[in-house]
Amino acid sequence: MEVLVESEANQYIPFTLEEVNLDFQVIGPAPSDPEEVEVLIAASRKEGVEDRVACAEGAKLKPVVMDVESYATLAAFELIREQFPGGAADKIFALVDIGANAMKITVMKGDQQTYTREQAFGGNQLTQDMVRAYGMGFEEAETLKRTGPLPDNYENEILRPFLDNLALEVSRALQFFFTSTQFSEVDHIILMGGGSLLPGVAEVVAERTQIDTVMANPFAKMSVSQRVRPKLLLSDAPSLMVACGLALRRFDP
Ligand SMILES: Nc1ncnc2c1ncn2[C@@H]1O[C@H](COP(=O)(O)OP(=O)(O)OP(=O)(O)O)[C@@H](O)[C@H]1O
Ligand SMILES: [Mg+2]
Repeated sequence: MEVLVESEANQYIPFTLEEVNLDFQVIGPAPSDPEEVEVLIAASRKEGVEDRVACAEGAKLKPVVMDVESYATLAAFELIREQFPGGAADKIFALVDIGANAMKITVMKGDQQTYTREQAFGGNQLTQDMVRAYGMGFEEAETLKRTGPLPDNYENEILRPFLDNLALEVSRALQFFFTSTQFSEVDHIILMGGGSLLPGVAEVVAERTQIDTVMANPFAKMSVSQRVRPKLLLSDAPSLMVACGLALRRFDP
């Protein structure tokens, strides 16, 4: 199987096989031909893998498994879906991940992914706005936007325009989804990623899109260790979807 996958993988991967780490999982018999099997391939540039291994080792951790971020997110999304009445198996969810540089939208119908698209927009833009407006360093702006204290005009002149822009980006991404698929509506927007942690994001997105919008909280139905502060966990939860999904990962016996 390994030999077969390697020889077939070539045509799907835009790099030589020496440059990538590759793994696969047999999904099951192909619906079109029971003699064939469907195989899911995950591949990553070796340098990307090596950077992350070095990062874990730098923190004195020993990495044993590498997983794909979008799969981890989908595992955590299951916990979100369960929070809706009846598991919302027939509902359409737009999962919007606002990172530092990228905003990724994934549309789920029940547990099936039907669409995904990434565009260049993220929390870095706000940090850069602060750098420009206040003449401060990038790191300083990063800290200030999380913990304050912030200048008097921050809310009206910096944060507000950024939030309006963010809501516009989400709404445009949804329009693009509607025009490029047969779908014409979304039932819920789930916000995740560090860029969604600003005050008021869910409200501006809901207002602009007219779609029910909630912050992702994969921990809502978990019991939490006494050492964890519930308020902090709740406010950080949307940025912990990937970490949570990785922790939920199953392993081959
Ligand atoms: N508490 C917070 N308040 C405001 N912004 C925050 C907060 N925490 C993180 N951010 C912002 O979120 C962004 C990082 O989010 P995240 O960790 O999801 O990004 P990433 O996954 O590393 O980036 P990308 O997905 O673009 O590769 C940064 O712009 C950071 O400033
Ligand atoms: Mg991210």
